[in-house]
Amino acid sequence: MEENTTLEELQKLPFWEKGEILVSSGPAGEGNMNLVLRVKTANRSVILKQSKPYVRKYPQIAAPINRIKIEKAYYSLVETNPVLKSFSPKVLSYYSESHLLILEDLGLGSDFSFLYSGKNTLDQQTLKALAEYLNALHGLQIEGFPDNSAMKILNHEHIFNFPFELENGFDLNSIQPALQEISLIYKRDIELKEALKKLGARYLTNGNTLLQGDFYPGSWLKVDDGLKIIDPEFGFLGDKEFDLGVLFAHFELGQQPESLKKKFLIEYQHPYSSTLLDQYQGVEILRRLLGIAQLPVALTLDQKKHLLEKGRELVLAQ
Ligand SMILES: Nc1ncnc2c1ncn2[C@@H]1O[C@H](COP(=O)(O)OP(=O)(O)OP(=O)(O)O)[C@@H](O)[C@H]1O
Ligand SMILES: [Mg+2]
Repeated sequence: MEENTTLEELQKLPFWEKGEILVSSGPAGEGNMNLVLRVKTANRSVILKQSKPYVRKYPQIAAPINRIKIEKAYYSLVETNPVLKSFSPKVLSYYSESHLLILEDLGLGSDFSFLYSGKNTLDQQTLKALAEYLNALHGLQIEGFPDNSAMKILNHEHIFNFPFELENGFDLNSIQPALQEISLIYKRDIELKEALKKLGARYLTNGNTLLQGDFYPGSWLKVDDGLKIIDPEFGFLGDKEFDLGVLFAHFELGQQPESLKKKFLIEYQHPYSSTLLDQYQGVEILRRLLGIAQLPVALTLDQKKHLLEKGRELVLAQ
């Protein structure tokens, strides 16, 4: 399946009911990793998500094809919990051999990337909903979850390694003039890199808590029916502080008021280590400013300098 796969071809999928005629198909929204199509028939609309052995938008970059299996396992697990179910698309079908997941269409919506403009504060209702989601997710009793180490290794590279490599070939001046020079401070920081090595090794081990694994504004979808959480392809069993740290890092990148974190933590019900939360938060800040997975942030060079320092301090928190 490709973006331009014809309706005739899509019609051949065994999924459709008898006599169900496809009317249209097109990209479901913004996304880089996978093929995600919205397919409409006369009386319904569904989402087709297919993983490839590479990043769909950058076919020269290999990516674990099993990520769709993780997504399927994640959605099937969260369906057993009424709270999580209300935040998630239903799984309609799954074809493991063609790496194809068919999901309920949650409707047209927008993600929360607008937060990076720094001009909007996340509303209280969404903040509470995010806490409600993580409360339920991190409280799940998990019997088993498929191994997601291939995706973790990929993520590990782009969180803990690549952004801090002296000669990684990624010219940060193409993102913002003089950022490359600033990045060298962190790329040459032995103490920071030692701490990151430890934290990275920890990220790679297995834990008992099911994590969304990529809990940032791009995975939150606002639709008519409220807030939805999608795209759990980086899900794994690990430290709950990872989801929390990523969340808080994106509050920083979106220039959210510090009070948001406090408000979130009042709602969050599980015990956690604030040191570990700080560390994951720190590395997520650093890697989003220095690594390849850039965001549409509205930060001046001085603001980035300040945030990079903050990220470093958080990683080195004791
Ligand atoms: N179940 C759904 N209902 C409605 N819209 C959806 C659904 N799933 C995905 N979308 C839309 O398609 C977009 C891409 O989906 P998704 O984030 O799952 O793809 P991806 O390829 O994994 O993206 P990324 O490159 O960010 O990892 C979403 O941002 C959203 O707009
Ligand atoms: Mg994705």
